[in-house]
Order: sequence, then C-alpha cells, then structure tokens
Amino acid sequence: MDKQLDLKDVVLIGRTFEEYCKMFDLDSNLLKNEIILDVASGVSSFCAEANREGFNVTASDRIYSSSPLEIEQKCRQDLDMVVKQLPDIADLYVWNFFKDIQ
Ligand SMILES: C[S@@+](CC[C@H](N)C(=O)[O-])C[C@H]1O[C@@H](n2cnc3c(N)ncnc32)[C@H](O)[C@@H]1O
Repeated sequence: MDKQLDLKDVVLIGRTFEEYCKMFDLDSNLLKNEIILDVASGVSSFCAEANREGFNVTASDRIYSSSPLEIEQKCRQDLDMVVKQLPDIADLYVWNFFKDIQ
C-alpha cells in the first residue's frame, strides 16, 4: 500500500483563523458582510478568532455535546497519533505554511 497518514477515525485537529483564510481564500472584506456558519468546526479557533475581530461566525459540530475535558482528551490523543506518524510521511506534504513537524 502507498505511504499515507493512517487514520482510523475523524481526527480532532483544529485550524486557526489564518489557516481558514488561506484555505478558503477569505479576507476581511468578504467576512464583514456575511453571517457565517462553520459546519464541522471541531476544535478550530476560526469562530473564536473571527468573533473577536468583529465578524459574525457561529461554530457547529457534533462534538460540542461532549464535555470540554472529553474533547481535550480526544484532541490530545489524535494530535499525538498524527505527530507520531509524520516523520515517516513528511515528504508527502508541502511545508510552506508549516515549516516543519514541530
Ligand atoms: C478534522 S476536524 C476539522 C475541524 C475544522 N473544520 C478545521 O478545519 O479545523 C473534522 C470535524 O468534523 C466533525 N464531523 C465529522 N462528521 C460529522 C458529522 N456527520 N456532522 C457534523 N460534524 C462532523 C468532527 O466532529 C470534527 O470536529
């Protein structure tokens, strides 16, 4: 089988406001005129950061029925699991935004 990240489940790893803007080509002109629903927002900080900047964003995700401690534990396990695998598959990624695994 080809070399790849081996995931058994949806992983709880969240992106930041900056990462969302780059990923979806968002900018403040677009965001300021919209009411935005971030579906499957998980542990992303996009909604929190956007609202702090004055934008109107709501986050939704089925994990929000879990307690903060349960979310933190799953997030920590998922991050550890992904970071453990990364050294062997680092060459599959473009390291422009993140410069290295750390
Ligand atoms: C990899 S996380 C991405 C989180 C965020 N969008 C980001 O980019 O940082 C995927 C999220 O999808 C959510 N998810 C998976 N299946 C879903 C479903 N059927 N309905 C709603 N959320 C779902 C998971 O709970 C998880 O938080």
